[in-house]
Amino acid sequence: MALLLLLLLVISASSASADEDAFIGVNIGTDLSDMPHPTQVVALLKSQQIKHVRLYNADRGMLLALANTGIKVAISVPNEQLLGIGQSNATAANWVSQNVVAHYPSTNITTICVGSEVLTSLPNAAPILVNALRFIHSALVASNLDRQIKVSTPLPSSIILDPFPPSQAFFNHSLNRVLVPMLSFLQSTGSSFMLNVYPYYDYMQSNGVIPLDYALFKPLPANREVVDANTLLHYTNVFDAVIDAAYFAMASLNFTNIPVLVTESGWPSKGDSKEPDATLENANTYNSNLIRHVLNHTGTPKHPGIAVSTYIYELYNEDTRPGPLSEKNWGLFDANGAPIYVLHITDAGSVLANDTTNQTYCAAKDGADVKLLQAALDWACGPGKVDCSQLAQGQPCYEPDTVAEHATYAFDAYYKMNGKDPEACDFKGVAAITTSNPSHGSCVFLGSSDRNGTFLNSTAPSADSKSSNSPINRLHGNYGFSTCLMIMIAVASALVL
Ligand SMILES: *[C@@H]1O[C@H](CO)[C@@H](O)[C@H](O)[C@H]1NC(C)=O
Ligand SMILES: *[C@@H]1O[C@H](CO)[C@@H](O)[C@H](O)[C@H]1NC(C)=O
Ligand SMILES: *[C@@H]1O[C@H](CO)[C@@H](O)[C@H](O)[C@H]1NC(C)=O
Ligand SMILES: *[C@@H]1O[C@H](CO)[C@@H](O)[C@H](O)[C@H]1NC(C)=O
Ligand SMILES: *[C@@H]1O[C@H](CO)[C@@H](O)[C@H](O)[C@H]1NC(C)=O
Ligand SMILES: *[C@@H]1O[C@H](CO)[C@@H](O)[C@H](O)[C@H]1NC(C)=O
Ligand SMILES: *[C@@H]1O[C@H](CO)[C@@H](O)[C@H](O)[C@H]1NC(C)=O
Ligand SMILES: *[C@@H]1O[C@H](CO)[C@@H](O)[C@H](O)[C@H]1NC(C)=O
Ligand SMILES: *[C@@H]1O[C@H](CO)[C@@H](O)[C@H](O)[C@H]1NC(C)=O
Repeated sequence: MALLLLLLLVISASSASADEDAFIGVNIGTDLSDMPHPTQVVALLKSQQIKHVRLYNADRGMLLALANTGIKVAISVPNEQLLGIGQSNATAANWVSQNVVAHYPSTNITTICVGSEVLTSLPNAAPILVNALRFIHSALVASNLDRQIKVSTPLPSSIILDPFPPSQAFFNHSLNRVLVPMLSFLQSTGSSFMLNVYPYYDYMQSNGVIPLDYALFKPLPANREVVDANTLLHYTNVFDAVIDAAYFAMASLNFTNIPVLVTESGWPSKGDSKEPDATLENANTYNSNLIRHVLNHTGTPKHPGIAVSTYIYELYNEDTRPGPLSEKNWGLFDANGAPIYVLHITDAGSVLANDTTNQTYCAAKDGADVKLLQAALDWACGPGKVDCSQLAQGQPCYEPDTVAEHATYAFDAYYKMNGKDPEACDFKGVAAITTSNPSHGSCVFLGSSDRNGTFLNSTAPSADSKSSNSPINRLHGNYGFSTCLMIMIAVASALVL
C-alpha cells in the first residue's frame, strides 16, 4: 500500500512538473466536411502526446472533451464576437463566465486569443481591440483567474515592415495608435506578443529571392548566409528572422521585455499548379525542423536560448476551406486521424511521436535503475491489476528473464489498460512511450496487433453541435508582400557583401 501511494505521488508529481518553458502546440481548425467528434479529436491528441492546443473559438463540446486530460488550451474570441466585447465590459464578462469560468480548472485554459489578425482582416475593429483585451482581462481579474490565464491577440507578420535586416524592422506606423497601448497592456499583464509566422508565404511572394532552403530551415552554404550588417547576427532561417524583426520592432517602441508566442506556423503539403512548393516533402521538412528548433531551445540570434513556443498550423486538413488547393492542406492528419506524412523527428520531447502511425507501447527505459524497475513491476502486477501470468516460468513472456523485459511487459499492459494515457507510462520516470513493438517470439504484447488504436473510447462529452468556426478569420494568404520584398532586398544585399 505504501508503495502504491509512493508511486502515485511520484507519477502525479512528475506529470505536473514536465515541460514548462518551450512547447509545440497545434491549432485545431474545424472546416472539415467530416469533422471528428470532440472525443475523437482528444483521442488523437492523446495518442500523439500533443499537450497544447489552440481553438479558434470556445466550442463547448471541445472544452468538455478536453477536461481532465492535462492538455493546455488556448481559446479564442472569434472576430464576429469582437465588436460586441470591445464595446461592452458586460458582454466581455458574460463571455468569460460562459466560456472560461464554466470550464476552468477541469479544462486547463491557459490563454485567450482575442480575435485573429484583427488589424488586417477586420480593420474597423482596430479601435476597440485594446478595450476588448482590457475587458476580457478585467473579467478574469474579477474571477481571480488573471494569473493563470493570459490574454493577447494574434497578429500577422505583415504588420512588421522592413523586417530585414531585423535590426531595422518597425511596425506599420499607421497601426501604432493601437499597438502602443496594446504593448503596454501586454507588458503590464505579463502576456505574450502573439505572431503568425508563415515562411511559406514569405518564400512564395519573394519570386525566388528567398531561397527555399532558407525558408525550410535547411543549411545554407556559408557564402549565402544572411547577416544583419548592423548587429552582425547570422540568420539561418526565415522563421528566426521574422521573430527577431518582431523583437526589434517592439524595441523601436521601447518595449523590450515582451516575449513572442507564435500562434500559427506551418507549411502546406499539397497545392495547385501555381503552388509547386506545397509538397509532402517540404511540409514534412518544415514542420520537422520547426519542432526540433523550438524544442531544442535554440532561440533566435537576438535572443539565443529563449525558445519561442509555437502552435503548428494545423491538426487536420480542412477540406471545406475556400481558396487555392494549399488552403485545404496544412494539416498533419486527415479526418480519420491518419497522418498525412510521418515527421522526420526522433525523440522530439514527447510531442508528435516520430511514428505518427497509431501504435505506441510503454517500455522500460534503457539503463533504468533495476531496483526502481523491480518496484514498479511489483506495483503493476499487484495494485496496478495487470495480469502478469504470462511472465511466470514456462509461460511465453518468461524469457528473457530480466527485470527490464518483464517490466516492459507489465508497463505496456498497464498503459493499454489506461487507454494509452501518457501519464500511465511514467512509473517514476523508468518507463517511456515508444513506437517499436517490444513483442518477441511467442510473447505477443497486448494491443500489438490492434491497429485500431487511434480512436479510443473515452468519456462521452456533451453532444454539442459541430463547432461553427468561420474561415473568414483565418485567411492568411494576402499579406506579407512588402514584407517579403524587404527581406529579399536585404538578402540580396547581404549576398553581395
Ligand atoms: C463596466 O464599466 C462600468 C462603467 O465604466 C463600470 O461602472 C463597471 O464596474 C464595469 N463593469 C465591469 C464588470 O467591469
Ligand atoms: C494548467 O497548466 C498550468 C501551466 O502548465 C499548470 O501550472 C497548472 O497546474 C495546470 N492546472 C491544472 C488545473 O491542471
Ligand atoms: C499600414 O497599415 C495601413 C492601415 O491598416 C494600411 O492601409 C497600409 O497598407 C499598411 N502599409 C503597409 C506598407 O503595409
Ligand atoms: C524611447 O525611449 C527613448 C529614450 O528614453 C526616447 O528618446 C524615445 O522617444 C522613446 N520612443 C518612443 C517611441 O517612445
Ligand atoms: C540542439 O542545439 C545544440 C546546440 O545549440 C546543437 O549542437 C544540436 O545539434 C541541436 N540538436 C538538434 C537536434 O538540432
Ligand atoms: C523517425 O523518422 C526517421 C526519418 O523519417 C526514420 O528514419 C526513423 O526510422 C523514424 N524512427 C522511428 C522510430 O520510426
Ligand atoms: C491508423 O488508424 C486509422 C483509423 O483507424 C487507419 O485508417 C489507418 O490506416 C491507421 N494507420 C496505420 C499506419 O495503421
Ligand atoms: C478494428 O475496428 C473494426 C471496426 O470497429 C473491428 O471490426 C475490428 O475487429 C477492429 N480490429 C481490431 C484488431 O481490434
Ligand atoms: C466503447 O464504448 C461503447 C459505448 O459506451 C462500449 O459499448 C464499448 O464496449 C466500448 N469499447 C471499448 C473498447 O471500451
